[in-house]
Amino acid sequence: MAKTDKSWEKRLGGWPDELAVDFVESLSIDTRLYKYDIVGSIAHAQMLAEQKLITKDELKLIKDGLFQISEEIAAGRFEFCKEYEDIHMAIEAALIAKVGEAGKKLHTGRSRNDQVATDIRLWMRDEIEVLQAKITLLQKTFVKLAGKYAEDVMPGYTHLQRAQPIVIACYLLSFVEQLERDFVRLKNCRELLDVSPLGCGAVAGSTLALDRKSTAKQLGFADISYNSIDAVSDRDFCAEFIFDCALIATHLSRLAEDWIIYSSSEFGFVRIDDAYCTSSSMMPQKRNPDMLELIRAKTGRVYGSLMAMLTILKGQPSGYNRDLQEDKVHVFASSDTIESCLDVARGIAAHTKFNTKKISAGLEQDFLDATALAEYLVGKGVAFREGHGIVGSLVAYCEEDGRKLSELSLDEFKRRCGQIEADVYDNLGAASVAERYATKGAAGTRQAKEQVAYWTGELGRR
Ligand code: ARG
Repeated sequence: MAKTDKSWEKRLGGWPDELAVDFVESLSIDTRLYKYDIVGSIAHAQMLAEQKLITKDELKLIKDGLFQISEEIAAGRFEFCKEYEDIHMAIEAALIAKVGEAGKKLHTGRSRNDQVATDIRLWMRDEIEVLQAKITLLQKTFVKLAGKYAEDVMPGYTHLQRAQPIVIACYLLSFVEQLERDFVRLKNCRELLDVSPLGCGAVAGSTLALDRKSTAKQLGFADISYNSIDAVSDRDFCAEFIFDCALIATHLSRLAEDWIIYSSSEFGFVRIDDAYCTSSSMMPQKRNPDMLELIRAKTGRVYGSLMAMLTILKGQPSGYNRDLQEDKVHVFASSDTIESCLDVARGIAAHTKFNTKKISAGLEQDFLDATALAEYLVGKGVAFREGHGIVGSLVAYCEEDGRKLSELSLDEFKRRCGQIEADVYDNLGAASVAERYATKGAAGTRQAKEQVAYWTGELGRR
């Protein structure tokens, strides 16, 4: 880079301190925006030509130059020089070097402030689509797995204590629901960010006759922003995007935690495929669920980015501040992390097997049918609170000699509650309870089939 190349060398004396050059540069982070920067520049130049601020010939030179630069960057032939600070100045300088005077007109009516705000929105629009596609693939994987276990019952937990019987498919579909909200949250985020800041300049817009609607339309934005100060100052959409990533991480960490527990010998509910396990350098017998543990741990990175992003925004005065340059590192880190977590989670889910034999062998332990028995009593005219007490004492009675509720005689039942009849036995046992769930959205056999069918159809259309 020649010492006269920098766009403001006539204003600032001398050459910047070497440490300052390293400190202020963002090229190492924002190079990945290059396509969006070039697309934005082409739209801007096109508009400048429409508005007769540059000639058609100049437009052609600019476009050709930008296409060449794009190819050079893609092919790894572009020489990045950190003195240019960021991708915007690196591309502009390269353009001027290529096409001369015409290149010097590209920045007419533009600032890096509206430029970067535009680039990051363009990037995020695409990235949201990538994340949504990965979410959908993971949902489909869960639905497929759920289809295999639409009749198998497992214990449902509260406080990680055995609570009530649930169908395995419903358990799996609970993740489809969580991911669906993640999908919609990203859709909402995309809608809010879909306005073009281009033409807002440094902070106040421009005295030139820029046609902001033209650039917005070329770039596929739904609208333009209507306040130049806000448009260059805020990155609320970045915080929102990272928050959406953070919730995906939260949901995946729940899955990871479940399956780490379920794959332990103590549970033995699922088998994580060898392809997603590691072993131990010391203990030859080990099969460790490291991928799940890392999914769980990577949540920390995303939460950290969210806190960082919010802190970067806090207390900044109105207008653009260089603080905002720090947004990208966190936005990119979050999306990269979530992309890989979604991919790995999908791989794991596609190959995980539920050990239904082991699960059903333990299903009649710990009175999973107790709540259903209390509800049976409601059907016989007993007030729920009273029925709850009766079943509580029946459970305590069973525990004395290690029996199950279904092993009590009708006589023993009747001694505690006269309304109990022989049909009580149809209401006991985990499998029959799962078949008797009557409410919409319950974790029962009937609902499992309905919901697998619903999600198969719904996701099939995506
Ligand atoms: N690299 C900067 C960023 O990411 C671009 C905008 C710089 N603007 C300025 N006035 N210094 O925010």
